[in-house]
Amino acid sequence: MASAHTILIKFGGNSLSGPGDLDRFAAELAGLIERGYRPILVHGGGPEISREMERRGMAVRKAAGLRITDEAALAVAAEVLSGINAATVDMLRGRGIDAVGVSAAEAGVVCTRKPPVTIVENGVEAVVDLDRVGDVIDVAGNWLQEAVASGTVPVIYPIGADDAGLLYNVNADTMAAFVAQASGAEAMVLLTDVPGILRGGETSSEVVHDITFKGIDELIAQGVITGGMLPKVEACRDAIRHSVPVVHMLNGREPNSMARKLIGHERIGTTVTQG
Ligand SMILES: Nc1ncnc2c1ncn2[C@@H]1O[C@H](COP(=O)(O)OP(=O)(O)OP(=O)(O)O)[C@@H](O)[C@H]1O
Ligand SMILES: [Mg+2]
Repeated sequence: MASAHTILIKFGGNSLSGPGDLDRFAAELAGLIERGYRPILVHGGGPEISREMERRGMAVRKAAGLRITDEAALAVAAEVLSGINAATVDMLRGRGIDAVGVSAAEAGVVCTRKPPVTIVENGVEAVVDLDRVGDVIDVAGNWLQEAVASGTVPVIYPIGADDAGLLYNVNADTMAAFVAQASGAEAMVLLTDVPGILRGGETSSEVVHDITFKGIDELIAQGVITGGMLPKVEACRDAIRHSVPVVHMLNGREPNSMARKLIGHERIGTTVTQG
């Protein structure tokens, strides 16, 4: 694929909260496109999915930051994510961006069921079956490639299908890492609701600006990296292992964070390197 200035930008459910944030993001994205960047967007929707499940009286269960997804939860996730997708596409088009919204399945992403994960809670190991949660194994066809080459901005929500067409919920960070490497992106940016990895855990304020793979292992072992940050750091490592040159985590609520990091090289967010 022509990878010139392709960047993968992933935003989470809490990082752009409400139309104000989304419109500011759209304006910032338009600015990056003007400077020659070709973005591919992947988004999550964790908090919105949890809220909708609770509204319907459904139990929200997670393990190692990943949602345990039964058939009913999958249906809610798909519905909520496609709603966020449509709202995002509308906002981008409002700023003159030629955005096209698709599910990962529609974009050609091929999944397989994720094997059970081993988690350690209070020193006790448990093996948890996540049910309809997928791992990404391939991107089939060249829809994505053609979309980017023609100047459109794919906006992808992370519901993927296996070879038999069975649908899976995929963590959006995991999805982002795979799409980034498959599209030859020169950078992956994960916009989240925190300013990066926080050294003292999620309630602290000290940002770790640069971290290596080994540093990540240490913070996981110390219990500093937990919850949604776990799949996020794994996604960063995965993208780098698969030759994505630059990976940043930034606070999506901080104005202009993408341009400040990618173009201004400001010391904000967390940058992951192999070390
Ligand atoms: N050491 C840490 N530093 C920063 N955040 C942490 C840390 N450990 C755990 N977290 C949690 O990780 C969260 C980010 O992951 P989360 O999955 O909730 O959001 P997201 O990936 O941006 O959104 P979505 O899952 O909707 O795509 C933070 O809000 C914070 O609560
Ligand atoms: Mg997440």
